[in-house]
Amino acid sequence: MSRKQDVMKDITALCKRRGFIFQSSEVYGGVASTYDYGPLGVELKHNVKDWWWRSMVQLRSDIEGIDAAIIMHPKVWVASGHVDEFVDPLVECRQCHRRFKADDLENTKQCPVCGSKDSFTEPRLFHLMFQTFMGPVQSEENIAYLRPETAQGIYVNFENVRVPARQKIPFGIAQIGKAFRNEITPGNFTFRTREFEQMEMQFFVHPNEAEKWYEYWKNERRNWYESLGFHMDKLHFHDHDKLAHYARAAVDIEYDFPFGRSELEGIHNRGNFDLSRHQEHSGKSFEYFDQQRDERYIPFIVETSGGIDRCILALLVDSYCEEREASDSSKMRTVLKLHPELAPFKAGIFPLVNRDGMPEIARKIERKLRPHFMVFYDDGGSIGRRYRRQDEAGTPFCITVDGQTIDDETVTIRERDTMEQVRVKIEDIADMVACYTDHWERDKGLPSN
Ligand code: GAP
Repeated sequence: MSRKQDVMKDITALCKRRGFIFQSSEVYGGVASTYDYGPLGVELKHNVKDWWWRSMVQLRSDIEGIDAAIIMHPKVWVASGHVDEFVDPLVECRQCHRRFKADDLENTKQCPVCGSKDSFTEPRLFHLMFQTFMGPVQSEENIAYLRPETAQGIYVNFENVRVPARQKIPFGIAQIGKAFRNEITPGNFTFRTREFEQMEMQFFVHPNEAEKWYEYWKNERRNWYESLGFHMDKLHFHDHDKLAHYARAAVDIEYDFPFGRSELEGIHNRGNFDLSRHQEHSGKSFEYFDQQRDERYIPFIVETSGGIDRCILALLVDSYCEEREASDSSKMRTVLKLHPELAPFKAGIFPLVNRDGMPEIARKIERKLRPHFMVFYDDGGSIGRRYRRQDEAGTPFCITVDGQTIDDETVTIRERDTMEQVRVKIEDIADMVACYTDHWERDKGLPSN
């Protein structure tokens, strides 16, 4: 097994061991490619979503938020083209019975699993939408779908959002939510799953300005990934030459995962395809009257469509390090060098020993800090062990109460990435953590006073 495959194995094991992400319904043997986020994973996920929401909605006056229902009118999926076009050609190996997306085989006639030659069946179309029934009768007319993307909930609500929010073009609507796809070949841990979360934003513009906004959003989204602390040499923009039926231009933001360069987010100039189709199928007008231009038109859409689970997997890969301990170079430590804003816990709080009033002071510090950020109290095992547990969880600070604390109300603070330690007054801890978080740069260490 190559080191790259080992890294994915190590990350999967860390996720399970520390309660970031684990197999869904594990006690029943698990459900293929479906995962649950545990206590640390759910915090990390919240932090990523918050960061996206804040930068895309709360810090801007030209984007509104929405939270649309997962089950929509079935005609939505006819209008969007999903009922007819959201299919993958599937082939099966007659020897080992494994199934593949025909597109993934790139003209090879050899089965990638068992090596048999010319063993594939003819391709047949496989629908990617999950079907269910609305109401008690399971009949054709009651068929409903679990949404395969959140975008359609934005398009059909264009007027419902624009009018009360008093927005004028150009403006956008953003949404975070679950999407479902009956993928033929899920895999690579949480990279391709059948249930996942998207963070999508649709920006409505005048047709002549779509190209300009497409370039603008490419740049904004690049900056967003940079702000999360990604190693930017691992992030790539890949222009599509083969476009989806709706797109006029498309680029993928890709990350160098251990299993290869793969998509995190798509940015598309969708033209007026979506609103025209909903106008046609619903009979309702999706035209916009542009007062400034004195012109009526169906807006063009520039979309940014990212996957939260993929972003989290990329963050875990990007921040995962195995390195030598500062105090004892014969020992290795595993550390997640996550941006402190994203880290599930901001600080671990430890009494050096469980006596001499230290636990009481440490608990007092915990109570004081908890309203400001997530903290973890730990009095189990040696200090070295406690540090290592927090390193693996990505916790940027470890605060230790020791004998000196009782005399002068100071504690030691140890920084995760550099393992540097300083003494700080208890009353200054919250400010210091906030200052460090605001000015964090990879491996830079503690802020100077
Ligand atoms: N509205 C456009 C759209 O949905 P997409 O490229 O099919 O475009 C957007 O999906 C993003 O959703 C992808 O870049 C990826 O991050 C995420 N995504 C798509 N399918 C996924 C899956 N099966 N598992 C995890 N994430 C997925």
